[in-house]
Amino acid sequence: MTTPTYDIILRQGRLLRSDSIETVDIAIQDGKIVAIAPQIEGTAKLELDAHNQFISPPFVESHIHLDSALTAGNPRWNQSGTLFEGIDIWREYKQTLSLDNVKQRAIATLKQQAAQGVLFVRSHADVSETSLTALQALLEVREEVKDWVTLQIVAFPQDGIYGNPKNDELIEEAMKMGADAVGGIPHYELTREDGVRSVHRIFELAEKYDRLIDIHCDEIDDDQSRFLEVVAACAIRSEMGSRVTASHTTAFASYNNAYAFKLLGFLQRTQINFIANPLINITLQGRTDTYPKRRGVTRVKELWQQGKNVSLGHDCVQDPWYSLGTGNMLEVASMAVHVCQMTGTSEIDACYEMVTQNGAKTLHIENDYGIEVGKPANLITLDADDRYDAIRRRAIVRFVISQGKLLAETQPPQTTWKGTSR
Ligand code: FE2
Repeated sequence: MTTPTYDIILRQGRLLRSDSIETVDIAIQDGKIVAIAPQIEGTAKLELDAHNQFISPPFVESHIHLDSALTAGNPRWNQSGTLFEGIDIWREYKQTLSLDNVKQRAIATLKQQAAQGVLFVRSHADVSETSLTALQALLEVREEVKDWVTLQIVAFPQDGIYGNPKNDELIEEAMKMGADAVGGIPHYELTREDGVRSVHRIFELAEKYDRLIDIHCDEIDDDQSRFLEVVAACAIRSEMGSRVTASHTTAFASYNNAYAFKLLGFLQRTQINFIANPLINITLQGRTDTYPKRRGVTRVKELWQQGKNVSLGHDCVQDPWYSLGTGNMLEVASMAVHVCQMTGTSEIDACYEMVTQNGAKTLHIENDYGIEVGKPANLITLDADDRYDAIRRRAIVRFVISQGKLLAETQPPQTTWKGTSR
């Protein structure tokens, strides 16, 4: 009897299975996971030693703006640190966009993320600029990177659908060009009425072109910014279910509790996904407060406790809104643990889920996501014991396996102690 030969065998890693960690081998063949067992017989073209470290499904970046990534300081730095100065700087910068410039920065950011275990990304593309350069560039990038990262693109009208007479046409053109989802920014429309109208328009476009929805919703400290209720009402009436996502929803943290609890009740009638971006919103929000100063991050813990699907995004990497960032999803999860006060053991694990499987649900890719026999071989190993340890240490991602191939490998830094033993 011949021993089987695989493309890859990942030996002896710690895998979370039905709530307990087991040490397993994983065999990969033709891009799929074909066996998971304590010890797999056979050989492989590539054998990787997981060093008894944690094996995880890849990270999911559910909210980023690749068109503005890596532009921090151009044409000037955001000195006030506010969302609105960021929008002004971006408006200046985007007059100079070229296809090559957007593509080069987007691919550089995706590589930076993929090397750190991110293999599924949802990016917004600003479609309130008349040449639609950012969208065209990201559509081309989506195709060019598809062999190693899955990219979804949201048509995002940064200046509002009704902020300029052309923008309504531009967002519909973006649907025709092939954007995966319709976006919006109702709290930045010129009036409350325009904001409500924009949400209705987003649902109309999503139904007409059969696309997902992901709206920048109430990203402001204004406790009167109440577009989430409009999104909820449209979601209930349209029966679009989990195809609808509300991003940011930072005003939810400023609502009075009487209103917030009523809204939570309405939200229970929907399957809306929520995306929080704690790295960015902890810095952008609260800027008009003296003290007490608000944290400006949506009610992540309460939404999670209510069973809502919450994922976390980076939002920005070195752009007009946030000059920092490396694309590391463990930094995002760690910030959520701190800002949302999710320090209980199950809460820390939940924050890890928010950058992995919850993101997969938001992106509607969960059927092909996860470490199971028969699924596409997308997985990472971390220099950590488990989810808690990964977040605590912002663990290095050692191996990144994408679509059955080893995509990246990183060695953890080694410290040699040179002092006395005491
Ligand atoms: Fe955003």
